[in-house]
Amino acid sequence: MKILSAEFIKSCYQAEQFPRVRLPEIAFVGRSNVGKSSLINSLLNRKSLAKVSRTPGKTQAINFYKVEAGGPRTPAFYVVDLPGYGFAKVSKSVRAEWGPMIAGYLTDRKELRGVVFLVDARGLGWQDRGALRWLRDLELRTVVVTTKVDKLRRSERTEKAASIREGLGISAEDQMVPYSSVTREGRDSVLKALERMLGET
Ligand code: GTP
Ligand code: MG
Repeated sequence: MKILSAEFIKSCYQAEQFPRVRLPEIAFVGRSNVGKSSLINSLLNRKSLAKVSRTPGKTQAINFYKVEAGGPRTPAFYVVDLPGYGFAKVSKSVRAEWGPMIAGYLTDRKELRGVVFLVDARGLGWQDRGALRWLRDLELRTVVVTTKVDKLRRSERTEKAASIREGLGISAEDQMVPYSSVTREGRDSVLKALERMLGET
């Protein structure tokens, strides 16, 4: 899949604001500061389409980006950048903390074709496992991406990857993509995964 162009469409704070023009959607999910917005920028070849910040909790709205990919069956789709979980100090469940809008989006959105689920390559946060299980229970197609691999030494990679796989319950056959928005490692694999989820293998 080639990215021809990408543009910001809108920031939504409630479901009524979601785009009226319907296109297939891919959502990016993961805890605050894991690198969702950075991954979106590097994937779409844009320096600052999605706002990146050192401070967790930067993305508070559901942001829609329209991507032209020029494929025969999926010429265009939306990339959907969701606010991270794990930011609010008190949290009883993924659903309660994430807020009804995000839970509602993931539960009800007909256009949602799949979720890119991001975890930090250096190790899981305590909510990651529950969040992924929740997405799987919704029967959403997911691809797991480990972010910031540039921060790991080569020698640490295998061991960290194995413990993340085990922690998330990802079988050996299932794909887990190491990613760095700094070196762009993993970009082609993520694009392939999007293509598959959008039904264009
Ligand atoms: P929220 O919007 O708060 O949920 O965060 P986010 O998941 O969108 O994270 P964001 O992309 O804003 O990145 C958070 C911080 O991590 C920023 O300081 C980024 O520069 C840094 N970062 C993101 N991806 C990478 C990466 O692949 N490698 C390195 N070294 N740093 C990264
Ligand atoms: Mg963000």
